[in-house]
Amino acid sequence: MFLVIVLTVTLLANTAASHGTGDFTYSSFKTANLSLDGLAVLTGDGLLRLTNVTKQKVSHAFYPDPIAFKNSSNGAVHSFSTTFVFAIIPEYPALGGHGFAFVIAPRREIPGARPNFFLGLFNETNNGNATNHIFAVEFDTVQNNEFRDINDNHVGIDVNGLTSAKSSPAGYIENSVQGFRNLNLISGKAMQVWVDYDGVQKKISVTLAPVNVNKPSIPLLSLSCNLSPIFKETMYVGFSSSTGSLYTSHYILGWSFKLNGQAQRLDLSQLPRLPHRKKKQKYNLLTTGLPFICLFILSILVFAVAYVIRRRRKFAEVLEDWERDYSPHRFKYKDLYVATKGFRDEELLGTGGFGRVYRGVLPTMKTEIAVKRISHESRQGMREFIAEIISIGRLCHRNIVTLLGYCRRKGELLLVYEYMPNGSLDKYLYNQPKMTLSWSQRFRVIKGVAYGLSYLHEGWEQVVIHRDIKASNILLDSELNGRLGDFGLAKLYDHGTDPQSTHVVGTLGYMAPESTRMARATTSTDVYAFGAFLLEVTCGRRPIEVWKDNDVILVEWVFSCWDKGDILEARDPNLGTDFLAKEVELVLQLGLLCSQSQPTARPSMRQVVQYLEGDLALEEFSSLGISRSGFPFACHEGFSTSGRSYPFYGDNAFSQMSSVANSVLSGGR
Ligand SMILES: Nc1ncnc2c1ncn2[C@@H]1O[C@H](COP(=O)(O)OP(=O)(O)O)[C@@H](O)[C@H]1O
Ligand SMILES: *[C@@H]1O[C@H](CO)[C@@H](O)[C@H](O)[C@H]1NC(C)=O
Ligand SMILES: *[C@@H]1O[C@H](CO)[C@@H](O)[C@H](O)[C@H]1NC(C)=O
Ligand SMILES: *[C@@H]1O[C@H](CO)[C@@H](O)[C@H](O)[C@H]1NC(C)=O
Ligand SMILES: *[C@@H]1O[C@H](CO)[C@@H](O)[C@H](O)[C@H]1NC(C)=O
Ligand SMILES: *[C@@H]1O[C@H](CO)[C@@H](O)[C@H](O)[C@H]1NC(C)=O
Repeated sequence: MFLVIVLTVTLLANTAASHGTGDFTYSSFKTANLSLDGLAVLTGDGLLRLTNVTKQKVSHAFYPDPIAFKNSSNGAVHSFSTTFVFAIIPEYPALGGHGFAFVIAPRREIPGARPNFFLGLFNETNNGNATNHIFAVEFDTVQNNEFRDINDNHVGIDVNGLTSAKSSPAGYIENSVQGFRNLNLISGKAMQVWVDYDGVQKKISVTLAPVNVNKPSIPLLSLSCNLSPIFKETMYVGFSSSTGSLYTSHYILGWSFKLNGQAQRLDLSQLPRLPHRKKKQKYNLLTTGLPFICLFILSILVFAVAYVIRRRRKFAEVLEDWERDYSPHRFKYKDLYVATKGFRDEELLGTGGFGRVYRGVLPTMKTEIAVKRISHESRQGMREFIAEIISIGRLCHRNIVTLLGYCRRKGELLLVYEYMPNGSLDKYLYNQPKMTLSWSQRFRVIKGVAYGLSYLHEGWEQVVIHRDIKASNILLDSELNGRLGDFGLAKLYDHGTDPQSTHVVGTLGYMAPESTRMARATTSTDVYAFGAFLLEVTCGRRPIEVWKDNDVILVEWVFSCWDKGDILEARDPNLGTDFLAKEVELVLQLGLLCSQSQPTARPSMRQVVQYLEGDLALEEFSSLGISRSGFPFACHEGFSTSGRSYPFYGDNAFSQMSSVANSVLSGGR
């Protein structure tokens, strides 16, 4: 297409081979009629674009008509004057192509011309040869030592070759201050050039200035030079340019020429607009993009740091020096977090008085665990407490839930236990349980718990008091053996409280009457609680229940059954008929025996085991001398049916409870 245009243009030029008047003005090349070759094009915007992004190519744009430069009578070259506006837009701001030249040549094409630093004007063989008859003003943006270029940003007057007859760094002398101002040819900004030849003085002058700046009165270059031997009769005027390996666009925005006179001033307002500076934009994108990229990287960094800190905080633990000894029992919070899938609600086994219990699987050993999270702000007593539960954890008994270890965090203690797949015993007893236990299963559980507690009391080098025996703290392993769990925890809450205050922790209905007065746990308070446990397992009721709007105190009720001579009436109806009357009777009586308000009257756990195993015969109660006077006590409270642990306060509470107990006692029978 382009070639066709060039051809037609050339053809038209040829057909109208009349000698031009040598006077033309292009404020825009929109309707221009130029002879183009190589990369040169006229853009739709009216620009003459000499080069585009194709590498190693030349381009030429000539005014189509030949101009008769010489006086036919004496052969002298006429004065002429030309002015044009150009812009060089490089792809990379600091790296230009090779530049371009205003050229006056004998033909509209320059055969054999080479790209690169030859600027589309010459080649290796003809450079500098007088037979070229080429006059050029170069705007050179690459320093080439071969042609003795002064720098990479200069203007030069070339005659037949690229070694300039005269050259100067690009710039202008300002009219007002007469100072030299540098101009950067590849700045992408439009600049105006004036080339004037004085045919009388035989002097050529070249002037450069930024567009919008008036023509400086002192030219950049002026050279005395007789063009007569160089010029032929007729010559063509135009531009030449070339590309190298770097992309640079050379544009001519407007151009006027006049032989024998002053070239017409260019109407700068009429000049076409330069294209959006894509390459510059790319660079701008980079410069404006850079802060964004930095910001992006920075924010990623901030996020990463925040993530690490959050993770650290999330998995932060409290570890004190004294805990070194227990390091084998120490778990990493992160491991527990992973094991319980982040303490998901789905893994929640239950909520007890001390906190939530989660099921988990240790990733390393694939063992199932139960993790109890206890919120605990005070560090007081923590050391003793951990020492104690670790030492208990060391004791291995088939009726004790093994403590595998612990972990401490700020305000929180995590205890890791063996997982008991069958959960806690209370689930099988009250409130129309989904599944009940047969008598033989219950009896097995009772014996197991008795063994476990007896072991804590006497089988270990130190006396360990459980403090919180109740059905919900008895856990069932896979074989439905009863196992003691939760020992020692009540003590954690005891610790650090003022010994003067009678702050006691335990569970209502399981607490021996003396514990409210003395605030001291002993083996016999454990026995008392065990008694309550025996009764609840056998009767399937809580120690205190609201029944038909009355508080029913289990001990009292069992006692009354016994008193009536039918203790078996107290048994859990869910047992059906599949039970051994002797065993049920034994357990109920033993329960009563343990529930006596006088601590010394209660048996020891060792004796309890012996009774249960039949090694020691339990005499008739009446012969033991037990009467109502043995239970004037017992069952205080009466307000709560939940069986929940919570502290209550000493004497005051006790007196209140006694009165309740009294009223119950007096009204109960
Ligand atoms: N080692 C364990 N294995 C399986 N389940 C357990 C274990 N420990 C506790 N649980 C479950 O978590 C619930 C709450 O436990 P816990 O805090 O001991 O209750 P409480 O404080 O009321 O005695 C229990 O009812 C039981 O179902
Ligand atoms: C282009 O130039 C040729 C030869 O000089 C001329 O015949 C033709 O009319 C011109 N066309 C235009 C559109 O100026
Ligand atoms: C550059 O210009 C030439 C001649 O007009 C053309 O053939 C070529 O496709 C152009 N290249 C690009 C990349 O525009
Ligand atoms: C050409 O040269 C002759 C003799 O020197 C002179 O008289 C004449 O004016 C010149 N013509 C032009 C157009 O300059
Ligand atoms: C250089 O250009 C001339 C024409 O000016 C041509 O004859 C010659 O073959 C060219 N040489 C090379 C090496 O291209
Ligand atoms: C200049 O070119 C001509 C013909 O192209 C050639 O005969 C001549 O030797 C060249 N001169 C020099 C100095 O290279």
